[in-house]
Order: sequence, then structure tokens, then C-alpha cells
Amino acid sequence: MCGIVGYIGKNGAKDILLDGLSKLEYRGYDSAGISVLNKKITTVKAKGQLKNLVSKCEKVDLNGNVGIGHTRWATHGEPSDINSHPHLSMSGKISVVHNGIIENYEELKSNLIKDGVKFVSETDTEVLPHLIEKNYNGDLLDAVIKTTKALKGSYALGIISEDEPDKIIAVRKDSPLIVGLGNGENFIASDIPAILKHTKEVYLLNDNEFVILKKDSVKLVDFDKNEIKRDVYKVDFDDTAAQKGGFDHFMIKEIYEQPQAIKSTLNARVAKGEKIVLDNIGADDLKDISRVFIVACGTAYHAGLVGKTAIERLSGIPVDVDIASEFRYRNPILDKNTLVMVISQSGETADTLAALRLAKEHGCKTFAITNVVGSSVSREADFVFYTHAGPEIAVASTKAYITQLIALYIFALYMAQDKNYVEKSVLEDVKSELLTLPEKVKEALKTDDAAKKIADDIYKETDIFYLGRGLDYAVAMEGSLKLKEISYIHSEPYAGGELKHGPIALIEKGTVVIALNTNNELKGKMESNIKEVVTRGAYIVGILPEGFTDIGESYDKIIKIPDTIPLLAPVTAVVPLQLLSYYVAIKKGCNVDKPRNLAKSVTVE
Ligand code: M6R
Repeated sequence: MCGIVGYIGKNGAKDILLDGLSKLEYRGYDSAGISVLNKKITTVKAKGQLKNLVSKCEKVDLNGNVGIGHTRWATHGEPSDINSHPHLSMSGKISVVHNGIIENYEELKSNLIKDGVKFVSETDTEVLPHLIEKNYNGDLLDAVIKTTKALKGSYALGIISEDEPDKIIAVRKDSPLIVGLGNGENFIASDIPAILKHTKEVYLLNDNEFVILKKDSVKLVDFDKNEIKRDVYKVDFDDTAAQKGGFDHFMIKEIYEQPQAIKSTLNARVAKGEKIVLDNIGADDLKDISRVFIVACGTAYHAGLVGKTAIERLSGIPVDVDIASEFRYRNPILDKNTLVMVISQSGETADTLAALRLAKEHGCKTFAITNVVGSSVSREADFVFYTHAGPEIAVASTKAYITQLIALYIFALYMAQDKNYVEKSVLEDVKSELLTLPEKVKEALKTDDAAKKIADDIYKETDIFYLGRGLDYAVAMEGSLKLKEISYIHSEPYAGGELKHGPIALIEKGTVVIALNTNNELKGKMESNIKEVVTRGAYIVGILPEGFTDIGESYDKIIKIPDTIPLLAPVTAVVPLQLLSYYVAIKKGCNVDKPRNLAKSVTVE
């Protein structure tokens, strides 16, 4: 949801900013811009993907060692050159990049207009350079502090001024921002990959912390300009983890990284015959928990649906799963024995973060499953479970989802191990099977060819249905989301038994139905549901375990996945669905890693 980068140092800012933006493009890619300061500020902005900005920059003199850049996901004002960031003050001496939303911008704007300020864009952000200029009295930091006191909403800001060319001022509130620490050069960025080529040492900022970034120094201060000391965080992955590494797209690379990602999630947490120990959770910390709420958005929500079944089946603790944007406004009944678990790959999703804060206000214990070390949810939750999947760059989540599933199984086993809801031997069996999943997912990746062939058959469809019962239904939801977000094919997931209550009216000759049927106990029921649509002419693609041999004649195409226990089948079943979506999108010529209208990290409500 918009990416920010800033540089001050000994080298040319332009190339560093453009390179940094290329690593942040997953956050928004409808327009981009940079400002470079060399006595005067020169700003170049371009609608569309970053490459448009890069070619525009070739024609402009952008020498200078200080600059800020931005890649945009539009909220206020359509994507256009004018609405792109950076935004300038009236004098042109102050330039600002912003990630977030200024909720009271209309009021601020009308006051500024009364003061004679002329606005050129339709954005909420443009109030910022004008306000900073109005508040400027010889000290840029003071002007920024004063300005932020007037703001409502979320923001990560990078600011440069011709009057103070030796610094970048930055601040964050409810939008991510990190500081990269170099040698004779320093950086700000929305995310670590943007600066990883230059440094692995960073400061992770908290809300309402201001940064005075100079070539040779970085100082953090609060609203009263008291200095804040911060430990240096050493990044434990390198630049190559955030590259395509020979794959055509990040998405397919990340799909293929799943066996390793699962190993990293399991690592040091699960071992045969041993109790599960979770970082920083004491033996008694969760013993009084009588109810769990899982709260998340999108793909992470789908992982939560699988988590519900795992936790309930193994520990007997009742679980509700909520979409974060609904949870936060529906007055959920919460108390101190409720654990609110948020799941978020980025750890910055605005609604998920708000849900976490709401849970804390109600005195609940909070638990975050996230992939990003130091992210907002990881810092605000009482307990954190890092999935350690490595950076996920493609907008469509794959390895983050699969590792969220693993995290949820581990959590379910953890909650179950001191209860007698199911026999210990059952827990041991689940644990043993969990440890086989890296290999089984490697096997499941061999469905690649089959998925590609089916993609060739179905890529011209305009409506595709996904069907499943039990956990297969939760996976169907994820498969359907994956397909629609990257291929733009309309798709609906349904519980097998629900179709006849209305949606079956949409089935006609040739309608493609992806039918998941992985659970022996539900197999017969699911086959009846499949027959109901076959009778109406549907074209069935079945996702079935190897072990299912008596499969009848309902399927037009079958993809076989490795056998596992039904509880863990979502892990293997999702793999061909990810591949299918990928190949359908490729066949349609879609921009797989950067689908239209989307952004990786949704830091606005
Ligand atoms: O970073 P988060 O896990 O909080 O993100 C949640 C959703 O925005 C995300 O999963 C989204 O649905 C993905 N594009 C799905 O592929």
C-alpha cells in the first residue's frame, strides 16, 4: 500500500531510489515518483509502473546525494502524474512522500485554501508539504512535529527541504517504516528489501518516532525531541531472497519455495516425542484460555478457517474466525480468557492491527502469526509466532499461506498437549505427519505439468466454481481467491452441500468446477455433490489424494496429490490450486506478480 524510500549519502540518490522502488513495487504500482535534492529539488513523476518513471528520469538531470521516492497504490485521486508522490509545497522547497491516509485532510485543506494555498492534486497527501511549509520557522523537524500533531490517520513520511539539505526527516504512525544504517550513507524504506543491497543493519521504528537522517548520523526522537535509543536489528536474509532467482515470476518462485518454507516454520518447534515449546510463551501463559478468536484478512483469513478445525479437533477449545474489518466493528464478546490470534503475512494490515488493538482494550491475551520480524502486529501482540517463510514479494500469497497453516497446526498441538481432549498417541501421529509435509509438498509440486495442461483448457472461462466439504471448503476459498486475484476470472467457492440452495442455478453445460475431495470420511457426500453438478453439465476437475482409487466417472480431469491425514490435507491440496491459478494467469497474459487494483500490504482501512 505505497512504498517509500529515502537516501542520503555519498552516492547518487537517483539510482538508489529507483532500485529501492523496484523492490517496493509490490506495495503499489499505479504510479511512482522521486525528488532529488541538489541545492534545488527536482521531482519526476509518472503514471503506471515503475518502468515509466525510469525512462522519464533518463531525460532529466537528477544529480544529487539526497532524495526520496514513492510507489503508489491510489486511495485519494486517480492514478496520474499529478497525483503521484512526491508532493511539493507552494514554494517548491519542501517535498514529501507519504504512505497511509490523512483522514482529516479535507478540513486541513480548506484551512490551507483560506490561507491562499493552491492545491494541484486530488490527494490527501498534498496537505502535508503545505502544512509543513506553513509551520516552518527555521527548523524542519519542529515543523514536521507540529504538522503531525494536527493529523488524524495513518502515515509514514519522508521529507526533504531545500533549506536544510543535509537531512531527511521521517516519521511513522500506523504505517511501516524502517531506517537502514550504512557507512557514510543512510536510508529510510517501507520494507527491508528496498535497502538490502546496501545494508543489513536497520532500526525498526515505532509509532510517533521521528528520524533525523543525515549522511553520517541517525537520530530518533519523540514529540518532545527527547532522544530515543534503539537496538540495531540485523536482517537474517540477503538480497537474493528477494530476487526471482531464475524463475519468471516471484509467485512461481515462492510456490516452489514452499517445502523449504515449511521446514523453517517447523524448525526447532516440532520434534517427534518431544513437547512443543513456543518462543516466549511460559507454561501457564495460555492455560486459562477458554475461547480463541482468529482474526485476519484475505488469504490469512482462509488459513484461519483451517486453524479453527485444527485447534477445536485437537484441543477442544472453541474457535471463532473473523474477517478483521468485520470483527473490529461488530462488538465481539471478549474477555480475559479469550485469546485473540491475528494472522498477517506483512504484520501491517490496518484492519488486522486494529482488531489486535481492540482485543487488547478488552483485556484479551493476543497472539500474532506473522512473517515479518519487527512488524507492527509482532510488536503489539503479547505472543508472536514467526512463520520464517522468507520475504514474500508476489501480491498473491502462497508460501505465507502454507506456513500460516503449519503455524496453526503447531499452535493446535501446543494447546492440546496438556489437555486430554484427544489421546496423546493421536497428537503424536499428527506431529509425525506434520514433519513429513516438506517432502509431501515437494511431491505435490509435481502436479505442475497437470496444472499447466488444465490451465490451457480453462483459461478462456469467465466463471469457475470451487467446491469442497470440511477443510476442502476452506482450501476451495483460497484456491478461488488465488484464481480471481491474478487471472481476473470470476470465481466462487462453495461448500459442497450448499450449492443446491441456490448457486446450482448457475451451473450449465461446460461450467468448470474444481472439486476438492481429499477426506475419506466426506468422500461419499462430496461425490453426491459432484454428481449434482455433473448432471447439469459441469466440467469437473478433481483434486484427489493418490490413495483414492475407486473414483467413479464424474471427473473430466484429475490432479492427484500425495496422501496425508485429512487434517493436514489443506497443505498438499492448495499446491495444485496455486499452480493452476498461476498458469491460467500466464496463459491470459496477466501481470502475475502485480495484479491490477491490488497491493501486497494493505495498510489503509
Ligand atoms: O499481510 P496480510 O497477511 O495481513 O495480508 C492479508 C491480505 O491482504 C492478503 O492475504 C491478500 O488477500 C493476498 N493478496 C492474497 O493472495
